[in-house]
Amino acid sequence: MADVTTEGTRPDAAMPSPERLAEAGLRFEVDGPVATLTLNRPERRNALTFTTWHTMAAVGDALPPQVRVVVVRGEGPSFCAGIDLAMFTGQGGGFPDGADPEATDTFIAGLQAGYLWLRRPDIVSIAAVHGHAIGGGFQLALSCDLRVVADDAKFCMKEPALGIVPDLTGTKPLVEIVGVAKALHLCLTTRTVLADEAERLGLAEVLVARDGLDAAVADLTTALLAVDHHTATATKRLLHQAAENTLAQQAAAERHEQRALLRRLSELTP
Ligand code: CAA
Repeated sequence: MADVTTEGTRPDAAMPSPERLAEAGLRFEVDGPVATLTLNRPERRNALTFTTWHTMAAVGDALPPQVRVVVVRGEGPSFCAGIDLAMFTGQGGGFPDGADPEATDTFIAGLQAGYLWLRRPDIVSIAAVHGHAIGGGFQLALSCDLRVVADDAKFCMKEPALGIVPDLTGTKPLVEIVGVAKALHLCLTTRTVLADEAERLGLAEVLVARDGLDAAVADLTTALLAVDHHTATATKRLLHQAAENTLAQQAAAERHEQRALLRRLSELTP
């Protein structure tokens, strides 16, 4: 995917404080190679504010380098109800009106940065989705590499009903997963996709009963961590190029990644 960010953790970046995370409706925990980012405004169904997106971007910038798997989950009855509707009013600061194209572009790019880092090749991101995943919440699930979905999940791309396009980097993975026609159907009818259909469409790598969600995420995490980190990073980098490369380019990319891994294996072998 062309939009895969190749940047990793920035050496000068500081992890947001627990107070800043709480203000953004987030919780962030690291346990060895596994980080968990929890949307933590259950009383607002984990609706996202501009501060949430900016703080998520800061978490990505300061991600501890030992982290290999990032789990994104939601507290309470819903994964995420999308944008906090107060953001459309003066109360939440309001969106730029588009009159200054450059300022509007920069503003939206700042929100997109909250999700883009989840595609970094050195991590695998997992969305643990239960309940509603609406608008920006659906796009957050799409921004993750893998989706583990509970049987009560409900996906809805609500943006067009509000007069806007989905602009939080979700349209590319949506089209890659379901194809243009189905993506158009989902977006322009703003219909809700239930868990069974999500699995059929390829939006869920794993579908489980609601009370099995955490265990399924833990099992998947264990499986992912069983693969060597360099190998996992090279594989993700390779797979993300495949759709846009010609066969010859992709074959060359395979050779390039393999050369480095073979060199490393030979150095490790006594
Ligand atoms: N923004 C702000 N508050 C929200 C919210 C949102 N997106 N979603 C829910 N809430 C609030 C409700 O107003 C309610 O507050 P009160 O207790 O003060 O009344 C509280 O959260 C609980 O909500 P419900 O009682 O409605 O809970 P529910 O479980 O019955 O329903 C829901 C959950 C289906 C998510 C429903 O709340 C809902 O439809 N919310 C709106 C979803 C929406 O339209 N989101 C915008 C999508 S578009 C987008 O996201 C664009 C973008 O990225 C730029």
